[in-house]
Amino acid sequence: MKNIVMVCLGNICRSPSAEAVLKYVVKNNGVEDQFFIDSAGTCANHIGENADPRMNKAASARGINLTSIGRQFIVDDLDKFDFIIVMDDSNKENVLKLARNDQDAAKVFKMTDFGSEKVTHDVVPDPYFGGEEGFELVLDLLEDCCSGFYNQKLS
Ligand code: 4NP
Repeated sequence: MKNIVMVCLGNICRSPSAEAVLKYVVKNNGVEDQFFIDSAGTCANHIGENADPRMNKAASARGINLTSIGRQFIVDDLDKFDFIIVMDDSNKENVLKLARNDQDAAKVFKMTDFGSEKVTHDVVPDPYFGGEEGFELVLDLLEDCCSGFYNQKLS
């Protein structure tokens, strides 16, 4: 069993989507029993909340079901998870502040590190304060990068 946690700022837009997209990837590969996939945010502002309705709408339109309930990333997550996948550099910095040693830090990867040649973004941009196209971009990036992550690290 491998444990993977997706991390963004609020845990209501990007990381719930990343969690859901990776769940689809492992399911499509027939290996969902081998993975525990979760998500968390580095801030505490949206604890207990469902995914943002705008993110939910965009994901649903692609057949992606968002099920996570907002929670904050905690130091215990560094023990619990084998891979900690962050969406941007600020998320990475916040997680690394909690890392106690090199072994913790070595678990942290940026989602866009796993993108194909089509992916030119070096972060999954925060869609919260922007328009609809930001939510579509999040999903476009996650669909590409989650496949890449699965192929490079999980298969
Ligand atoms: P997320 O998006 O990090 O992808 O969940 C955000 C959600 C909330 C806020 C910022 C980003 N906020 O400032 O409340």
